[in-house]
Amino acid sequence: MTWLSSSSIGRKVVMSVTGAALVLFLLFHATMNIFSITDAMFGVEYYNAICKFLGANWYALIATVGLAFLVVVHIVYAFIITVQNYRARGTERYAMSGRQKDVEWASKNMLALGIVVVLGIGLHLCNFWAKMQLIELQHMLGADVCHNALENATNGVLIIKNTFANPIYVVLYIVWLGGLWFHLTHGVWSALHTMGWNNNTWMPRVKCISNVVSTLVVVMFAAVVVFYFAASFCCTAECCAAHAHTCAEAVAPVVDTVQTVVEAVVDTVAVVAE
Ligand code: HEM
Repeated sequence: MTWLSSSSIGRKVVMSVTGAALVLFLLFHATMNIFSITDAMFGVEYYNAICKFLGANWYALIATVGLAFLVVVHIVYAFIITVQNYRARGTERYAMSGRQKDVEWASKNMLALGIVVVLGIGLHLCNFWAKMQLIELQHMLGADVCHNALENATNGVLIIKNTFANPIYVVLYIVWLGGLWFHLTHGVWSALHTMGWNNNTWMPRVKCISNVVSTLVVVMFAAVVVFYFAASFCCTAECCAAHAHTCAEAVAPVVDTVQTVVEAVVDTVAVVAE
């Protein structure tokens, strides 16, 4: 098993496997977040039920620790691979061949994009995790926790609503999601490439799959940010529940845009599949 850390291909396999697991988490997380929109539109409470289910219980805590482990391994290996590439290129670092010039912007800036993603995750954990699972955990461990904070710890919709009513967070999250999109497009491609999907037939398909997966994840996250920012002008989430039809009208342009993007992605897949 030492080849996983000592050989160049071993390190790429670790990056690919941890990256693939993190993409699965993102797909789950983004899909789950869509329920925060449907809840506000249709006056139901599925999102908060999921938040409660994923609170400070043993299975959610095991998942959190597992997730943190994947993130740490992914970051540590990213630094190791970058240092290794830097050393290998030596003084040739700036003498680019024709092939290298074609290498995409995202591929050349994976570490920088990764740092943007990590900074965003730090902000995001302060915005959500620290107000939810951490509060419940502190309460379980006997710490003195403010009554209101504990009551809101499973109210994901309320915390999302409060966060994205603030335009500064809206801008920061959109920038973060932009960085995540670039990081994912190259990351998913690179993982599939490392797994051996790198012949002439599969290369364009793999590129298309990476773009579709990354766009899907980022559009689902961005939809929540935009929806709650728009809703902060029209009404509160509680009010949306009472007047679902009014709110549905107000967010119709957002829903239309998401639908157009999804249709465009499906068309692209159909063209590449031909
Ligand atoms: C803008 C859209 C997003 C919203 C509304 C959102 C919402 C949430 C909420 C409510 C939680 C707390 C769940 C709980 O403790 O019960 C959470 C946790 C988390 N989110 Fe997000 N999230 C978003 C985007 C992202 C993105 C883009 C990433 C990663 C790149 C991410 C990574 C995480 C992680 C790592 C946790 C901690 C998970 C755990 O406790 O196991 N989130 N998010």
